Amino acid sequence: MKPRAFWEMVLGAGRSGRWTMVLSALLLLDGWPCGRAYGQEMITAGDVMMTQLIQIQEITKIYYLGDDVHLTALDRVSVSIDPQEFVAIMGPSGSGKSTFMNIIGCLDKPTQGRYLLDGTDVGLLNSDQLADIRNRKIGFVFQGFNLLSRTNAIENVELPMLYNGVHAKQRNERAMNCLALVGLKGREHHHPNQLSGGEQQRVAIARALVNDAPIILADEPTGNLDTKTSVEIMNLFVKLNQESKISIILITHEADIAQFGKRIIRFRDGKIISDEAVKK
Ligand SMILES: Nc1ncnc2c1ncn2[C@@H]1O[C@H](COP(=O)(O)OP(=O)(O)OP(=O)(O)O)[C@@H](O)[C@H]1O
Ligand SMILES: [Mg+2]
Repeated sequence: MKPRAFWEMVLGAGRSGRWTMVLSALLLLDGWPCGRAYGQEMITAGDVMMTQLIQIQEITKIYYLGDDVHLTALDRVSVSIDPQEFVAIMGPSGSGKSTFMNIIGCLDKPTQGRYLLDGTDVGLLNSDQLADIRNRKIGFVFQGFNLLSRTNAIENVELPMLYNGVHAKQRNERAMNCLALVGLKGREHHHPNQLSGGEQQRVAIARALVNDAPIILADEPTGNLDTKTSVEIMNLFVKLNQESKISIILITHEADIAQFGKRIIRFRDGKIISDEAVKK
């Protein structure tokens, strides 16, 4: 995902709010124009208790490319994911992995089918409510880190909390705690260009954790990292899954990386072709 799309979709709510100008100014300072707005309303309707965290029911995603040309990226996919699972998603390029992840992350809507996120029917939510549920339930980690280059590690981690209107002192405390959790104590004031690739990804993981979301979605998070650093990052995901009870759904092309999960779902041509537990 491109950085601009990341910030617009993950953090952007498509509405006005007092943090809009703050965040837009930060993004503009960093050279990333941002046309979306922020707000603070919380949704409550339909936010009910459920045992399954993610229920994907017969979801199809069709991209219409004009003049009767269309592409079926996902074809009647059904799957459920429980709290505290660690799922690796695999499959060839173009098989629908990122499309699936974007739908789970409420970044994209399916053409058909139903998606329940922690009991909420995501298809019934408007864009403000979608932004809100995304902010509360999901942290995102991508291959390219998507850090703002002109802000330090703490400020990068604080950004998602601007949306929630968390007080400055508390923002700072939570960011420091998350940076410590990912092993970056002492690096809080470093800018991205003063950090290694693995450290930058740790900052991105801290940013994904800072709102206490129960789910982390990671699209090829080790794609830009060497083998040793990839293993370190995967061990961090394992720790977050086991100790902090965070559900992790992670796309990877590498079989070794998928083995860090507890379950592997494989896609081919927009369909799930296998779904099995990892033998440890
Ligand atoms: N916005 C879009 N418009 C049109 N087609 C798209 C769009 N996004 C994805 N596709 C197509 O949908 C199919 C699935 O794409 P997707 O990005 O989900 O694949 P992927 O499994 O993540 O692949 P990779 O491993 O290369 O990242 C591909 O054929 C892709 O070309
Ligand atoms: Mg992809």
